[in-house]
Amino acid sequence: MKIELDFSSEHFDKADLKVVACYQKDETFQGSWSDKNLMSHFKGLRSSKSFSGSAGEFMTFTGPEGETVLAVGLGAKKEAKAEQLRKTIAKTYQAISSKKFKTVAIDALSFNCVNDKAKAAELITESLQMSSYTFDKYLANKKTPTFKKICLFIDDKKAKKAVEKAVEKAQNVTSSVNFTRDLVNEAPNVLHSEGYAKAIEADVKKNLKGVKVKVMGKAELKKEKMNLFLSVNAGSAFGPRLVHLTYTPKKATKNTKHIAMVGKGLTFDTGGYSLKPGGSMMGMKFDMAGSATVYGAFRAAVLNNSPYKITCILGMTDNAVSSTATMPDSIVKARNGLNVEILNTDAEGRLVLADCLDYACDQKPDYLIDAATLTGACLVALGSQVCAVLGNDDKWINELRNHAKKQDEYMWQLPIIPEWRDDMKSQIADLKNIGTAGRAGTATAAAFLENFVKNDVKWAHLDIAGVGDSQAHLPYCPSKGASGLIVRTLHDALTNGK
Ligand code: BES
Ligand code: MN
Ligand code: ZN
Repeated sequence: MKIELDFSSEHFDKADLKVVACYQKDETFQGSWSDKNLMSHFKGLRSSKSFSGSAGEFMTFTGPEGETVLAVGLGAKKEAKAEQLRKTIAKTYQAISSKKFKTVAIDALSFNCVNDKAKAAELITESLQMSSYTFDKYLANKKTPTFKKICLFIDDKKAKKAVEKAVEKAQNVTSSVNFTRDLVNEAPNVLHSEGYAKAIEADVKKNLKGVKVKVMGKAELKKEKMNLFLSVNAGSAFGPRLVHLTYTPKKATKNTKHIAMVGKGLTFDTGGYSLKPGGSMMGMKFDMAGSATVYGAFRAAVLNNSPYKITCILGMTDNAVSSTATMPDSIVKARNGLNVEILNTDAEGRLVLADCLDYACDQKPDYLIDAATLTGACLVALGSQVCAVLGNDDKWINELRNHAKKQDEYMWQLPIIPEWRDDMKSQIADLKNIGTAGRAGTATAAAFLENFVKNDVKWAHLDIAGVGDSQAHLPYCPSKGASGLIVRTLHDALTNGK
């Protein structure tokens, strides 16, 4: 959706639909409506229409000049914070997107429940862009709204600079969130490893000037001794791809902080010989969501001129069955030299990540983050709403949790204990790739990964198996399909909230 900023009432006055907001009934009236005439008209109507102004409640009426007006409830003043605003705007978008308006204008400052004009404009933009997302390329009948853009009227010319900057930042973040969603929603026959790498390369070339791209295939991975990664690819019709992106800020010095990210890019997970039953296999195109998430965050951070050096490593393959696929009981030597007994070929994500983490540590980052749809156990532990975080440095984990909190995304730490490290030891090899069935699956997976983090790098692992898709409780996410969550949190970490 195109967002147009308006600092004089020109577009607002002419709009087919004017959108304004207010708190709930018994609280101070939101006195920041730009149109005082409209405001007094609404005051008169409000009680007769029994409109209470609770969060997401709507009232449509005809304004004093015959225009259509939508009043939106922001709810109780003390609860009306950033997330409430995102949700209210999302519901507003849902309410109007199927209506036949040609032009829509929002009185943005009437929605300023965060007491910061630029922040309010940023949040409105963010929510509109996330809410108007659709994955409709395979639909003949697309439900495109009749209006082509939404005008945000900011009745304060002095705020122009700050608002423009904040809105541009939100546009960069949400175009990246939506890019992540597109990748995750794409079908596995279209977005296989080779096509995926090409899609990333094309996006970098088009949108991320100055970012270095290196794409590695089977021959390069063999040279790098990434045998765990290759073992997952052994049954595939497509070559493995490791995409290595590097961003260096313009003002980099030798003290510039370096953050590396690694993403699980399983374009489809059949389970391999440890085959998933049909019902559990459905939806496994989303098993590359970790890589799409770290790429989305990388993209947004680069567009918003992050002050940090950022390395992004995406491990791409599918996990397929064929006569050449890896058999359970195989023992494979990792890039770091540890031998791994592969008892279950469905625990494949950790194999790809293991070699990628070891490779990432060689880039000498100060901080390391990986994101992956790694375990079904994560859904058992934390549901589909909460992202799990584990790692080797509580300070770094807490920092990430704070970024999540700031972005209103749920993230909770799970422990790694010595007993679970022991659970990943094999009798005949250094490690095995599964722990005790049905016991702490998310944490034993992280305990496995920990063996591949070296050089004292501070590492955090994000299991996004739950939050990666179908967030029916969030009105700014599609109820079915890729969520794009965690991109905002990681972008915040990569730009330090700037
Ligand atoms: N991609 C799956 C994890 C997953 C499962 C994510 C369901 C979302 C929903 C992963 O590769 C996997 O299959 N993990 C196994 C590990 C087990 C064999 C130790 C799992 O969770 O069952
Ligand atoms: Mn699997
Ligand atoms: Zn998987």
